[in-house]
Amino acid sequence: MPDRTRPLHVACIMDGNGRWAGRRGLPRTDGHTEGEENLARLVRVAVRRDIGHLTVFGFSTENWRRPRPEVRHILGLHEKLFGRVAELNELDVRIQWIGRPFDSPEAKTPRYVQRAIGKAIADTASNTGMVLTVAFDYGGRSELVAATEKARRSSGGVTPEAISANLYLPDLPPVDVLVRTSGEHRVSNFLLWQAAGAAIYFTDAPWPDFDGDELDRALELVG
Ligand code: FPP
Repeated sequence: MPDRTRPLHVACIMDGNGRWAGRRGLPRTDGHTEGEENLARLVRVAVRRDIGHLTVFGFSTENWRRPRPEVRHILGLHEKLFGRVAELNELDVRIQWIGRPFDSPEAKTPRYVQRAIGKAIADTASNTGMVLTVAFDYGGRSELVAATEKARRSSGGVTPEAISANLYLPDLPPVDVLVRTSGEHRVSNFLLWQAAGAAIYFTDAPWPDFDGDELDRALELVG
């Protein structure tokens, strides 16, 4: 049973932006643009539902392989999202980022996105309501390899506690509900450790159509 003594943690794999656009005869990038708008809408709904943590998969370690113009567009949308500081402050939402540390050898996050992330974190740091965590240049396996390596070098060695303590964001609570949109039934290297006990809500709705009613159906899984 989920631990209902703490606020709920919902994590979303926001799939289907490209298909949403394709069905309308629009370029894939328009689907991503609408996906970012929908995330802004969903943040408002999640705050109203008293969700404690909303974590979203914005860009994976694998997404760099997409065509350059699409990558550039998605990066620009992250800059836009991290720039929504006034909205986040109005909602008392604190923003966090999870991903490969910028100084790690494999990290690929360009400087302007690093700056946008740093500024959003600083400008929302004193908010005490919902925590919005954006996964950017994130992969669960990379996170676990890094955490295990650090645990191995620690005095107590590799234990579940030591791995938890060495994750990118050790204070991120376990995921209660993992959402995957657009009819795909895969976990796709997202929060592998944190979502070990999560209920999973699969829906055929593409991410731009994932609304409050969809969120409520996902929340039904945890009563
Ligand atoms: C999947 O759609 C979504 C992504 C690759 C992640 C990007 C998400 C957004 C741009 C939404 C806004 C979020 C942020 C954090 C700015 P897809 O291209 O895989 O869709 P498809 O499977 O239909 O092709």
